[in-house]
Amino acid sequence: MTNQAKTEKKRYFEPAPQDIDVENFKKVLTSRRSVRKFTDKAIPADILDDCLDLALLAPNSSNLQPWTFYVVQSTDQKKQLVKACLGQLAAKTAAELIICVARTDRIDEMAKKNISDFPFPEAPKAVKQYYRFIPYNYKTGYFNAVGHFKKVAFKVARTLDKQLPVTAFNPADAKLWACKTTALACENLVLALRAYGFDSCMMEGFDEPMVREILKLNDEQYPVMVIGAGERAKDGVFFPQYRFERELFIQKV
Ligand SMILES: Cc1cc2nc3c(=O)[nH]c(=O)nc-3n(C[C@H](O)[C@H](O)[C@H](O)COP(=O)(O)O)c2cc1C
Repeated sequence: MTNQAKTEKKRYFEPAPQDIDVENFKKVLTSRRSVRKFTDKAIPADILDDCLDLALLAPNSSNLQPWTFYVVQSTDQKKQLVKACLGQLAAKTAAELIICVARTDRIDEMAKKNISDFPFPEAPKAVKQYYRFIPYNYKTGYFNAVGHFKKVAFKVARTLDKQLPVTAFNPADAKLWACKTTALACENLVLALRAYGFDSCMMEGFDEPMVREILKLNDEQYPVMVIGAGERAKDGVFFPQYRFERELFIQKV
C-alpha cells in the first residue's frame, strides 16, 4: 500500500448537507425575541429535552464542554429563583427556568473523557497528547501557580517570536474562557426553542450570590445567565426589534 493510500484510508469524511431551508433558518433567527411574558402552556418534556440536547451541540473550546444547565424543578426553588431574578416578569411567568452555569472545575475530567470517549476505537496519538497538555492552557492552579508560571513562559516565548494561543493567566481569564463557550450553548438553546414554536428570555439581571446559594455552586462555577422559556403571550414582546446601522459593527479590513 502506498503512503497516500494509507493516509486516505484513515481519513474521516462527513459530507455537508446542502438541502437546508435557509428561509426557515432565517425565520427561526429573525422571529427570536426576548419575551418578557409567557402563557401558562407547559413545554412538553421531550421538546425541552431535545432543545437542551441541541444546546449541547454548540461549538466549545477544545471540546471541553465547560457547562451545566440546571432545569429548575421544585416550586420552592423556582420561587426563590424568581426572587433572585429581581422578580422580572420573564422569570415569573416562564414555564421553565434554566440556569446556565459555566465551570472551570471539570477541565481535567473533560480532557480525560475526550480521550476515553473519542469516537474511534482508540483516540489517535495526537489527540491523546493534546488532551494531556490542554488542561494546563485553561487551568490556573492553587494560588494561581500555573497562571504565574505561564505568564513567565509566555514572556520568554514572545522574545523568540513564538505564537501562542489564548491562555488563562488568572482565574478571571479562566472564567471568561468558560463563559464564552457557555453563551454559545445558550444561543443554541433559545434558537432550538424558537424552532419548536416556544420562546425565551435570557436574563443576567439576577442576584448572583443568591443564585449561587440556590444551586450551592462552588467558586469555579459561574452562573452566566438564567433563561426563562415558555409560550409567548400575545403581549409578550414589548416593542419591535431594532439594531443600529451595520457600519457601526461590521468592518471589512
Ligand atoms: C446576556 C444577556 C442578558 C440579558 N438579560 C436580560 C434581563 O435580565 N432581562 C431582560 O428583560 N432582558 C435581558 N436580556 C435581553 C436583552 O435585553 C435583549 O436581547 C435585547 O434588548 C435585544 O432584544 P431582542 O432579544 O428581542 O432582539 C438579556 C440578553 C442577554 C444576551
